[in-house]
Amino acid sequence: MSDGRTVISLENIIKRFYVGKPNELQILNGISLEVKEGEFVSIVGASGSGKTTLMNVIGLLDRPTEGKYIIDGVDIDQADDDELSYIRNQKIGFVFQTYNLIPKTNALKNVELPMMYAGVSMNERRKRAEELLKIVDMQERMEHLPEELSGGQKQRVAIARSIANNPAIVLADEPTGALDSKTGRSVMDLFHKLNVEQGKTIILITHSNELAEETDRIITLKDGSIIGEREGTDKRWMKTLETSETSETSETGEISENKETSEKESSEYKGEEK
Ligand SMILES: Nc1ncnc2c1ncn2[C@@H]1O[C@H](COP(=O)(O)OP(=O)(O)O)[C@@H](O)[C@H]1O
Ligand SMILES: [Mg+2]
Repeated sequence: MSDGRTVISLENIIKRFYVGKPNELQILNGISLEVKEGEFVSIVGASGSGKTTLMNVIGLLDRPTEGKYIIDGVDIDQADDDELSYIRNQKIGFVFQTYNLIPKTNALKNVELPMMYAGVSMNERRKRAEELLKIVDMQERMEHLPEELSGGQKQRVAIARSIANNPAIVLADEPTGALDSKTGRSVMDLFHKLNVEQGKTIILITHSNELAEETDRIITLKDGSIIGEREGTDKRWMKTLETSETSETSETGEISENKETSEKESSEYKGEEK
């Protein structure tokens, strides 16, 4: 799944808040991490361990206090804030736990927005937004407002939006954290699809050990340090991906199990589903 090119290289990243003040806090204590193109990596760790802080550094939303960060060949120390915004908009898509859709704005327009900022023409961005909403199985609800969508559907729209400008990297901060396990499962399948079919490099922060187990590599953070790194072992999602072409969309927009998948496998895979 990975062709070996390094897209993210962090070397001894330190992040402090309130630098120089008596209440100075060191939140990241020297993080070194390399992510290859096309990899699907998860970051796990207790609340407060620094996952979001690390994500903000990786996503160029915040600069590290110390350390070297090279993203897609660009050393961020050599880039000014405008260049970083440009890289962020072109190379990175974000997915958040609470979706962050624009209220009172339908799914299509939400997906169009990043393309509008990127200067894509009206016709072109409409066409692409429609295609993206098809990819996430939301073609039936393109005109719906966020408030008319379920959590899982909102997250699908947010995922479509995250890839609007065709970024190489998708960063997702607890994207299933607000969803029930079945809906979270279908959102996870969508990330697998983006990873396998579109070659996106994905970094997923999750509280779910089960979902983390499905990724290529699991990074464990504790108190701002990486304390573990290992391969994920659960490959059952591959089956879902193979059958997703023929799966049906239910009322709620979730991918229902393909009829050819055996009862046993499906109930085993979906775990908590009753
Ligand atoms: N902007 C900030 N200023 C001060 N402290 C912060 C800031 N952002 C995060 N922190 C602190 O950093 C620690 C890690 O937070 P965070 O990265 O959000 O953890 P996680 O996402 O793993 O729950 C927490 O103790 C939090 O209070
Ligand atoms: Mg967090």
